[in-house]
Amino acid sequence: MSTNASPATGRTPPLQTKLPAVGTTIFTVMSALATETGAVNLGQGFPDFNCDPRLVDDVTQAMQQGLNQYPPMAGVPALREAISRKIEALHGRHYSAADEITVTAGATQAIITAVLAIVRAGDEVIVLEPCYDSYVPNIELAGGVVVRVPLSPGTFRPDFDLIAAAITPRTRAILINSPHNPSATVWSEADMLRLQELLTPTDIFLISDEVYEHMVFDGQTHQSAARFPGLAARAFIVSSFGKTYHVTGWKVGYVAAPAPLTAEFRKVHQFNVFTVNTPVQHALARYMADPTPYLDLPAFYQRKRDLFRAGLERTRFKLLPSEGSYFQCVDISEVSDLGEADFAQWLTREIGVAAIPLSAFYGNGFDQRVVRFCFAKKDETLQAALDRLAKL
Ligand SMILES: Cc1ncc(COP(=O)(O)O)c(C=O)c1O
Repeated sequence: MSTNASPATGRTPPLQTKLPAVGTTIFTVMSALATETGAVNLGQGFPDFNCDPRLVDDVTQAMQQGLNQYPPMAGVPALREAISRKIEALHGRHYSAADEITVTAGATQAIITAVLAIVRAGDEVIVLEPCYDSYVPNIELAGGVVVRVPLSPGTFRPDFDLIAAAITPRTRAILINSPHNPSATVWSEADMLRLQELLTPTDIFLISDEVYEHMVFDGQTHQSAARFPGLAARAFIVSSFGKTYHVTGWKVGYVAAPAPLTAEFRKVHQFNVFTVNTPVQHALARYMADPTPYLDLPAFYQRKRDLFRAGLERTRFKLLPSEGSYFQCVDISEVSDLGEADFAQWLTREIGVAAIPLSAFYGNGFDQRVVRFCFAKKDETLQAALDRLAKL
């Protein structure tokens, strides 16, 4: 042991980053700027209203009952059973609560755990851009190779010819997301059937990010991968209670996957988080007994979407469709000559409304003059934003 290194001059060894492209996310930057400038924050995707007080009561009660120690590794059985019943009622597929459903620390942990469970060094994983910002670093941490396929410019629909062309013998998985963040598009039954047709002859796994599953508008149905046997057999279906019950800070979600996939998933989960918040799981199990909150969610958010869109119609923004999720994208080209990122900064500082540039969801920063607003806000928040945007 060396004796001449004094503890007072301890040297931190140089660290070669595993994620050189990752810095502070645009969501953090825009939220900080919104706080600093007093702007209405329609940037980051979270509600500014509270959840159902019954749900808080249920958590309190669970804590008071002493449900405060480690739960089973895969999740509280009553919650897994409630999730299983919900999927079967909505999509007609039975997932065994014992072997096919795992409760996770939000969708974020669910996705990285699924990626780590299946992606080996050098495996290719297809992502459809624009995409949620955790997908690419997740694949890179697993040693995988990210294969980026663009959604169709302008419409953000999947281009199955491009997806088919991206498939190689090394393709291990594809990650999809419907309803889609950031574009607010929803995959149709025909889209899912086409994906099924494409994947059926292959051994490619599917990670289906369905966190906005209960926010689909205009009478459309969420086309979960659970509805398609050829997809369900290879899919990790991911959802988030944070989105569904207005509790994004609780970070609880789940994964439904066939037993052999769940077994591998749990091997990683066990040494990743091991278990998820006990009283919240008990509360969610109790709360899920009544399907009304999630069945009412489309109408709840559709009304907010319509209120927000009606106000935006009076500006020079060009509105893109918002078929699902709680996002509304707008084309800024009639309003400004700035690029998306500069426009988002200008909008926050000068107009007092924060938005997210779509370029943040592309690896190469592709700028198509579109920004995203989040309308998961109180009506008065939306109105305050609209009052400010009215001058554009
Ligand atoms: C598409 C998508 N996937 C996953 C997540 C993460 O969900 P959670 O908060 O449950 O980790 C989000 C949150 O914004 C999202 O938009």
